Amino acid sequence: MQVSSVHLKQFHRQGFFFIPRPFDQVQLENIDRLQVDNHERWRTTDWPLGLNRLACQFLMLGEPLLKLVEKPEIVAMAQQILESDQVHVNACGIGDSISNRSQPQVPWHSDGVNCRQVSFRTALDRHDQPNAPLRFLPGSDCRSHEEVQLELMQFELATGRHDKAPAPKQLYAKHPDEIEVILDPRWTLVWSPSCWHATGVKTSVGQRRAIGWNYSTDRDQKHDKIVRAVKHVFNDQWHHWTQERKKLWAVG
Ligand SMILES: [Fe+2]
Repeated sequence: MQVSSVHLKQFHRQGFFFIPRPFDQVQLENIDRLQVDNHERWRTTDWPLGLNRLACQFLMLGEPLLKLVEKPEIVAMAQQILESDQVHVNACGIGDSISNRSQPQVPWHSDGVNCRQVSFRTALDRHDQPNAPLRFLPGSDCRSHEEVQLELMQFELATGRHDKAPAPKQLYAKHPDEIEVILDPRWTLVWSPSCWHATGVKTSVGQRRAIGWNYSTDRDQKHDKIVRAVKHVFNDQWHHWTQERKKLWAVG
């Protein structure tokens, strides 16, 4: 699964491209079943404060998911995109990130400023118009964080919804250059979470589950979080992992 130079250009200019889902239908159904079967155990677990719950849910599903992240052709693709042999996982998650929020929508944000990273995201349930599609601002990782934030604030104020100070903390307004990503389970989005993104409003009653993980060349706070989740979930097991696995998950 080689990335062409045209795909690389698209990633570096726009921050995303699509690949056919890099695992087959049987694997998809297996992941779906594992997530459903484990959901109640995950939901009722008393997770320590500050632990990333969606990462823990991902890790609880164990070997099939670890193997997916370690798939040589996917790691090679990440190495090619990030132009480094030294990549490690700095985030992972599975589940529905919207249904438990107070708002049926995720506001504009970027995950990781000045961080070289690439994320692989596959929908388990189609993210279409009533199901909070991803909204994405192409190329925004190439601009300063403050500049894009200020721009989004102006579009938010231009909605006329906010009539007094202080300025709104959560920004949802449409940006003229945003694209709406309808993510179908047949495809995987390869993207930079450093690009600004948000979601549309979820009005459908069904689930909006996705599976995703990131590779990075940097070791920052985000990386510390994933290591903490790995050590918590694989408590007495991670010490026995192979050196290769420890290296990719940067634990040890
Ligand atoms: Fe995000």
